[in-house]
Amino acid sequence: MEISDLQIIIPDPAWGSNLANIILDLEKLRSKKLTGEVPPHIFSQLKDIFQILETLGSARIEGNNTTLSEYVENIIENKMKQDESQKEVFNLEAAINFIEGNTDEKTTLNRAYISELHKIITADLTPPPNGEGSKNPGGLRTHNVQIRKANHIPPDYAILRDYFDAFVDFINHPFREQYQLLMVALAHHRFAYIHPFDNGNGRMARLLNYALLIKLGFRVKNGRIINPSSVFYTDRDKYYDMLAKADSLQSEDLLAWAEYFLLGLKNEIEKIDSLLSPDYVKDKILLPALMFAVDRKNITDQEFRVLKYVVQKNDMIIKSEELEQLGVKNSVQKSRIIAKLRDKKIIHALKEGGRIYTITFVNNYLLRGVISSLTDEGFVSDFLNKN
Ligand SMILES: Nc1ncnc2c1ncn2[C@@H]1O[C@H](COP(=O)(O)OP(=O)(O)O)[C@@H](O)[C@H]1O
Ligand SMILES: [Mg+2]
Repeated sequence: MEISDLQIIIPDPAWGSNLANIILDLEKLRSKKLTGEVPPHIFSQLKDIFQILETLGSARIEGNNTTLSEYVENIIENKMKQDESQKEVFNLEAAINFIEGNTDEKTTLNRAYISELHKIITADLTPPPNGEGSKNPGGLRTHNVQIRKANHIPPDYAILRDYFDAFVDFINHPFREQYQLLMVALAHHRFAYIHPFDNGNGRMARLLNYALLIKLGFRVKNGRIINPSSVFYTDRDKYYDMLAKADSLQSEDLLAWAEYFLLGLKNEIEKIDSLLSPDYVKDKILLPALMFAVDRKNITDQEFRVLKYVVQKNDMIIKSEELEQLGVKNSVQKSRIIAKLRDKKIIHALKEGGRIYTITFVNNYLLRGVISSLTDEGFVSDFLNKN
């Protein structure tokens, strides 16, 4: 009997196998209480930076050659969206925002949702074969395709709708808990296998993983930061090899894919969990970033002292009165110092027009130092900077 490749069946891993153990570990992380006390105004900026790594990584897997350093400099100089490859990364960021704004545990990842995501990632890009856009944004492909460097031939376009619908049913099926992570892993491969769009299938597969993890309660939205693409970009050849192996749809190959995927995810979540610790964020990320900036004279000694004061406080905020503690007595001078930092956009008011400020490091030269800290801490793959 031949099993139709229309159905998506989750094979059972052996109890006691590596894969079963990885799933158990991930389940602990899913239900783990997040005790992070990193102030939300700091956490959200770190999250934005991880989003940069994520989107750039996802674009680079498919041959986009913008390096992280170039991208960071463009952010600092506010020169975004100039060429197609930057635009592609920008679109991926918009897609992540769409997912975070439209996904919770009750969301159905239906046709409309997937279609919208595809429109976002391909917006204003040149269609294939010359660019990373689409001839039919948001719609299924209307011709047959081949996957570059792969032997597998995706389903004929005439019967694609059935495959796509089976896929949508699969990712929305109320699986029991022990099958949910396997579903996420298999969904990635199956989406790429079906290749429903004329282009953007890899980007979509990775974005759908992110959406599914949010839906399954991995707290990607509010608590923990997650970067599922870095599972793949640490070794692109391995990623393609594992996908190709799974194309057989044999249980053992699908399970091998799931193990590869879920182990990568587990390592990623564990690594990123450290960013929930205020001391870690202060001592390993922000203080070294400030040192980096003052050493390179991106900030003055006085700015350094103020910012250092801010990040050493538990709440990481400052009011101008507090400059007293840094030896500034005169209140006019206090206001002037604050105004200058604000104009340089290295601090911002917590509330529009408010008088309580916090450090800003996502869109100015402090970003260089933060990226350097993150690199030292092993969060930034070399892959993001290779030419
Ligand atoms: N053997 C394979 N089986 C299934 N999918 C594959 C295979 N090899 C590569 N892929 C997927 O195809 C993607 C490339 O397809 P494409 O539509 O061009 O996506 P994108 O435009 O996002 O790069 C890869 O990122 C990968 O996810
Ligand atoms: Mg492509």
